[in-house]
Amino acid sequence: MTRAQRRAFAEWWERFGIEAGHVPLEPESVFGRRAPLVLEVGFGDGESLAALAMAHPELDYLGVEVHRPGVGHLLLRAAALGLTNVRVMCADAVEVLEQQVPDQCLDRAQIFFPDPWPKTRHQKRRLIQPPFVALLARKLKPAGQLHVATDCEQYARAILDLLDQAPELVNMAADKGFAPRPAQRPPTKFELRGQRLGHGVWDLLFVKTEGE
Ligand SMILES: C[S@@+](CC[C@H](N)C(=O)[O-])C[C@H]1O[C@@H](n2cnc3c(N)ncnc32)[C@H](O)[C@@H]1O
Repeated sequence: MTRAQRRAFAEWWERFGIEAGHVPLEPESVFGRRAPLVLEVGFGDGESLAALAMAHPELDYLGVEVHRPGVGHLLLRAAALGLTNVRVMCADAVEVLEQQVPDQCLDRAQIFFPDPWPKTRHQKRRLIQPPFVALLARKLKPAGQLHVATDCEQYARAILDLLDQAPELVNMAADKGFAPRPAQRPPTKFELRGQRLGHGVWDLLFVKTEGE
């Protein structure tokens, strides 16, 4: 971590941070209001999460990232922008979802450019696997949305298959394939790096069926 990121934890963790553990999250008491809740898994440096939170003060954003320097970066950005609708966890999102996020609590979950692990022998390390999809689906409210973007075509096709197989999720794209890039998604650091390398980008937008 840079010195500034270390300082961010000292100065801003109490304001924006939520400890990982076993205490169930109560969004209304965490944010001090009742508002639609968006979860971002693996926000990297958090620049796009901060931009979204700035653009949508009517929504509350919970970011979960394992990489401590990225968390420090977001703490600094959230403080600089004076954001009141962002909270941050430095933890494994799978554990947070299993242990702390109540069922049917999220209005939206977003995962932008999850590590692609393109080599066949590494693919078991991918975040988006059937148990994770089932877990996320359980945490979404009815009509809650799941938005994934990736610059790895092979992973994109695997995610599309997995989400198609989830009984409670429905593809929102008109042709039931990949979605056009939603205008509100800011470019992320990883996406810009991919662009420089000539990568394409695939967006996937699914909605949880009502009544689940
Ligand atoms: C390829 S980077 C993309 C970061 C950012 N979304 C972007 O587009 O610039 C993937 C990120 O996911 C984080 N990550 C991977 N597994 C995670 C997990 N189980 N829980 C939380 N974050 C995770 C990594 O630390 C990394 O920052």
